[in-house]
Amino acid sequence: MFNLNIKNTSELNKIDEKGIIVNFLLDDDNLKQNFQDYLVNNNIKINSALSGKFLENDSKELFLQGIDDNPYLTVFKKYKVIKKFDNDLFRDFVSSLIIKFEKEPVKNLYINIPDFEIVKEYFKNEEYYYSTFIEGLLLGNYKFDKYKTDKKEIKKLNVYLITENKKISSALIKRTENLMKAVYFSRDLTNEIADVLTPQELLKQAKSELVKEGVTVKVFTKEQLEKLGMNGVVTVGKGSTNPPLMMVLEYKPKAKSKGKIALVGKGVTYDAGGLCIKTAGGMLDMKGDMAGAGVVLGVIKAAALNKLPIHILGVVPAVENVISGNSFKPGDIIKTYSGKTIEVIDTDAEGRIILSDALTYACKQKPDLVLDYATLTGACVVALGESAAGVFTNDDKLAENLLCSSKKTGERLWQFPMWDEYKKPLESDLADVKNLGIRWGSAITAAKFLENFVDEDMSWAHLDIAGPAIKYNIKSYTNKYNTGFGVRLTYDFLEEFIK
Ligand code: BES
Ligand code: MG
Ligand code: ZN
Repeated sequence: MFNLNIKNTSELNKIDEKGIIVNFLLDDDNLKQNFQDYLVNNNIKINSALSGKFLENDSKELFLQGIDDNPYLTVFKKYKVIKKFDNDLFRDFVSSLIIKFEKEPVKNLYINIPDFEIVKEYFKNEEYYYSTFIEGLLLGNYKFDKYKTDKKEIKKLNVYLITENKKISSALIKRTENLMKAVYFSRDLTNEIADVLTPQELLKQAKSELVKEGVTVKVFTKEQLEKLGMNGVVTVGKGSTNPPLMMVLEYKPKAKSKGKIALVGKGVTYDAGGLCIKTAGGMLDMKGDMAGAGVVLGVIKAAALNKLPIHILGVVPAVENVISGNSFKPGDIIKTYSGKTIEVIDTDAEGRIILSDALTYACKQKPDLVLDYATLTGACVVALGESAAGVFTNDDKLAENLLCSSKKTGERLWQFPMWDEYKKPLESDLADVKNLGIRWGSAITAAKFLENFVDEDMSWAHLDIAGPAIKYNIKSYTNKYNTGFGVRLTYDFLEEFIK
């Protein structure tokens, strides 16, 4: 991890300290010529076998150490602008560099940003294109090392983003750094161990990060939840010595608001499965079962830091799903805040039970739309793998906008159908609805369960982030720690919403 100082510049001003120069080479008919020209202009000599290997075969990057007393390492990364171009390429590569060199005594990093014209059809606008480089740097620079005894010292690294005519404004750098602070906040919460991050502690951290930014935090204690009839949250939390709660966060902009949005996040601070207990392996990642809450808190922080002119309500039910003599049981019937009753088939399908109360509460506040985030089903991970979240909605226009932000931010979303036959398996003989149906299509069935608790005329989308929120081995910035997936996506959605 470095202490990054990100600046923009229009030319390469080498300082005589150890540094890295990064060049992206467009892999088209002129690749060889451009590469040769660069080497000649910069007085770099390499043996032809090496350059041949880089140019001819599939190797996509080349690291050239300066010879004699030249302190620079020159990095080349090939990229192709063809149908399969992925606009996460720059973000991911820049992040991999930060990780690769974290132990090296590098002082300066120069990144030659390719001309926007070359890649323009893959980015929504020029500003966002530049911000992907800043996102990449900060995504790669994240660490969760509070439990490591031997902490590495944090070195300063100057990063120079080189564009023609200094196209990157300091306002853009600030905006993206703020957004990334929110991503870090969300990541810290999901990476914290469950022994520390109880529902109470989640509340405490939400308060300490958000109140200072002008966000109000209201809390419903277990007793208040009982009085209000929010028995979904209360019941799932029954087995734990750490009582359940629900927090409601409100960010109201000083400027005239351009809408009101409710964000709901599953805050299961640990999911052992309850009496329908998980296997040891299945439990391992379950400190991250509050990642939905992490998205909500992160997005609110980003909006507050960047003063987005939109009114946001965050609704976060927080519980621990563990075992004791007080745990709720299969066969129990719960009367929810909506008045509808749920027959408990499986105590491990707990997320949807706590979300039922939270969604009813959110709808009652009459927002323009409701988005919910939850590490809800393993079935969604089976369907999409770890790199994409599922989106389930009653509003195709909303899906379109979310998918658009997904493309831009590289936080992948895939839409599932919401046909009514998926409701069928949830019919209960004893209550209004069962919390579990059949195995097939059970990510969709879970979404159909949630739909019971959303007003019919409310525009709503459910994001099942069980795959990409938990660490996964696909991108350089997702493979060690829980990821904070959803914060950048939602922030972009909000920015577009207020346009
Ligand atoms: N929190 C889990 C879902 C999950 C699985 C999140 C893997 C992240 C990674 C959820 O509460 C759960 O336990 N779901 C069960 C439901 C089952 C009992 C019907 C599942 O998906 O296996
Ligand atoms: Mg569960
Ligand atoms: Zn869960």
